[in-house]
Amino acid sequence: MAYRNKLAPSVLNADLSRLREELGAISQGGADWVHLDIMDGHFVPNLTFGPVFVEAVKRSTALPLDCHLMISDPAAYLEDFCRAGATSLTVHQEAGVHLDSLVRKIRELGCRVGVSLNPATPLETLDWILPEIDMVLLMSVNPGFGGQKFIPYTLEKIAALRRTAEEKSLKLNIQVDGGIGPDNVKAVIDAGADVIVCGSAIFTNPDVIATTRRMKELMG
Ligand code: DX5
Ligand code: ZN
Repeated sequence: MAYRNKLAPSVLNADLSRLREELGAISQGGADWVHLDIMDGHFVPNLTFGPVFVEAVKRSTALPLDCHLMISDPAAYLEDFCRAGATSLTVHQEAGVHLDSLVRKIRELGCRVGVSLNPATPLETLDWILPEIDMVLLMSVNPGFGGQKFIPYTLEKIAALRRTAEEKSLKLNIQVDGGIGPDNVKAVIDAGADVIVCGSAIFTNPDVIATTRRMKELMG
């Protein structure tokens, strides 16, 4: 069955010693993208993986790679991640000061362009760049770790951003990331999100295929 909304499982909490198997399972379950949480131990208090890991994922799945760059100096690594096989590059509004030039650089590299906001960062910070980007990633947890609790005020933020996108007739993906599972995904979609990141709710469940399928059904 074709669903409208997109599911991007985050492999941060997957069993990386069985990466190919885990990627096969989410693909079989109907996942649309693979969400890769790139962390530098500086912008966020955790250190994960870089371009070489993205290359390994690229060799292990046909799904588009949705790279979430939680790093302080994204400009220094855009080309590396693009060359490694990223389909989409999402940078944080809070990292670095030259967001407009970052967005232009990602566009020039031929990747889809995403900008992420931490929970407390106002939507207004994106006012001037919104028409230039493909996706806004609204963090529903404070970035750095999987398995955290969904921050409830995010629902209001999603709805406000969806209203703005409609008022300005912008074709914008609204991606939400952090603390999402079968019990709250419908509320996130109903608020106006159309791309869902889900990590631990999928990969800590013994049946990854069934949980992925369940998430897709609930998302519609
Ligand atoms: C957190 C990451 C999220 C996280 C999602 O900094 O950006 O993608 O891995 O994991 P869950 O779904 O477990 O909150
Ligand atoms: Zn993420």
